Amino acid sequence: EDALQREKPLQGKKVVITGGPTQEAIDPVRYITNHSTGKMGFALAKAAMLRGASVTVVKGHTEAEEPHFVKMVPVKSAQQMFEEAADADIVIMAAAVADYRPSEVYDQKVKKSDGEMSIALTRTQDILKYLGENRTTKTFLCGFSMETEHVVKNSRKKLEKKNLDMIVANNLKTAGAGFGTDTNVITIITKDSEQAFDLMSKAQAADCILDAICEQKNQNPLLAEAMECRLHSNSVR
Ligand code: CTP
Repeated sequence: EDALQREKPLQGKKVVITGGPTQEAIDPVRYITNHSTGKMGFALAKAAMLRGASVTVVKGHTEAEEPHFVKMVPVKSAQQMFEEAADADIVIMAAAVADYRPSEVYDQKVKKSDGEMSIALTRTQDILKYLGENRTTKTFLCGFSMETEHVVKNSRKKLEKKNLDMIVANNLKTAGAGFGTDTNVITIITKDSEQAFDLMSKAQAADCILDAICEQKNQNPLLAEAMECRLHSNSVR
């Protein structure tokens, strides 16, 4: 597939993609996590690799089949993901990052006792917000947004609050969208556009997202300049 892919608009570009869930330890036995399987992140990694990019995936625990020709950096917690999610030409945060972690991580297994118990939680680092606040001008920053209501309105708020170029919204309650499926129903949102897509495979969704990112290059002169050079040298060859 790599050899047959004709256009390589991301040749020479560094792309960092996060995918899968984070795990926030309670004790050596238990952790807090979510239903993400990492399939969307891996589909994006493959699509970026086929477009010629040098791709690193920072992945939470997942059993999904890994794409080839991609560097994998396995992590567990949101903090570890934060430490590995480096700046790049394009950063796509497809991971389902826990917003909270247990305030205390016990060294030994917590034993049960009668009555209720509760776990104090502390906010984790918002990785995407940090990247948005500390970005270089040439970085293209794309987030994901999972919602169950007011999908576009809430996602647009995240786009602005986290200083992103693009956010890909999906509604967990739409059939065929969300965790674990091989399909997705996405809306690609930028500062001045909104594109809603019908049900499609995660591989097709990844293609649409990568195409949209490449199209946006015109609004990001530094990225555009670098990508045009590569397109030109490809056509010469
Ligand atoms: N994200 C992140 N760090 C976090 C939480 C989320 O980088 N601690 C990223 C996700 O990877 C995603 C985007 O922020 O790209 C939006 O995540 P989402 O869970 O939809 O929204 P939140 O910002 O966490 O807000 P809320 O949970 O209140 O909807």
